[in-house]
Amino acid sequence: MYNSRISGLGMYVPENIVSNDDLSKIMDTSNEWIVERTGIKERRHIKKGDGNSTAKMGVKAAKIAIERSGINKDEIDLIIFATLSPDYYFPGGGVLVQEQLQIKTCPAMDIRNQCSGFIYSIATADQFIKSGMYKNILVIGSENHSGGLDFSTRGRAVSVIFGDGAGAAIISREEDPEKGILSSHLYSEGKFAEELTLIGPNTNRWVNKIIKSNDPDDVSYYPYMNGQLVFKNAVVRFTEVIMEGLNKNGLSPEQIDMLIPHQANLRISQFVQKKFGLSDDKVYNNIQKYGNTTAGSIPIALTEAWQDGKIKSGDLIVLAAFGSGFTWGSTIIRW
Ligand code: UT7
Repeated sequence: MYNSRISGLGMYVPENIVSNDDLSKIMDTSNEWIVERTGIKERRHIKKGDGNSTAKMGVKAAKIAIERSGINKDEIDLIIFATLSPDYYFPGGGVLVQEQLQIKTCPAMDIRNQCSGFIYSIATADQFIKSGMYKNILVIGSENHSGGLDFSTRGRAVSVIFGDGAGAAIISREEDPEKGILSSHLYSEGKFAEELTLIGPNTNRWVNKIIKSNDPDDVSYYPYMNGQLVFKNAVVRFTEVIMEGLNKNGLSPEQIDMLIPHQANLRISQFVQKKFGLSDDKVYNNIQKYGNTTAGSIPIALTEAWQDGKIKSGDLIVLAAFGSGFTWGSTIIRW
């Protein structure tokens, strides 16, 4: 049996910076409220005409990851694309990335696990490599949130939080069993499906029905989040699933060199940091700059941490996420 490791990382965020003050001009919110409750200072939004889309941002991140991994794009055996904001309802973003990268016929699949999308994708890639089926897998997490948010005061509890961006990783075969992805731990709890969701349009109520209903209170085409419930579940599940990953590998929290939590809320990351007694240099946060980029958040943060020289060979890296579904998970990596 083989192991797998991350052999290349890349990220891309749109150039357009949207500050909290910019949002305060279009809805009833404030820099103070957003910073105090979430830690976010600014986020990136795709600008009309800048040539970006969920798939296109993913391609930009992927090209960097491919180059850094030292492989040729034609050596990619599988593309896994995680997003909740795809370019098309179908087909998924994976095939769009494949076409834009001009890779001929390798399989491409999409993972629909929102904030946990990257963890689910990396776990999937790891299994394909451990089984010996594939050698190099391109994993992308990318989101174009700004295209589908309610930027009126009605939507402020959600729209101030989310930003656009993409991260990518090449997962490659590793011969050393002590190195690379040690384990992943995945969970979901569908009874909370409607606590963080975008319900419509869907196959029961297609676009024309929503439009015909002409109901001004029908905002089912915007995301809804029961923020406090999500927060309460997040802090518990993050803690549990990180501990499970450590226990599985006979490790303890003091051995963590870098924790990269999904960037949902700085307060959640700080809660988890405190719970495990980690110093500031052992937790990477960049939500201040990018907001919550859902499936993009972990690969963007991982790429930045690596670029900043905060991840070295032999380090114990812990990734963890929680989000819509509810879904959550962790991945333990010996770099
Ligand atoms: O990545 C997916 C996972 N997502 C998460 O993990 C998010 C978890 N939840 C959270 O991060 C927090 O619940 C939020 C940041 C979303 C909200 O913070 P909160 O402290 O839970 O605020 P709240 O929803 O309880 O709202 C408090 C007040 C309300 O006003 P009243 O009813 O007290 O008068 C809201 O209407 O804040 C108001 N409010 C705002 N005020 C200014 C909500 N959004 C805003 C806003 N600006 N943007």
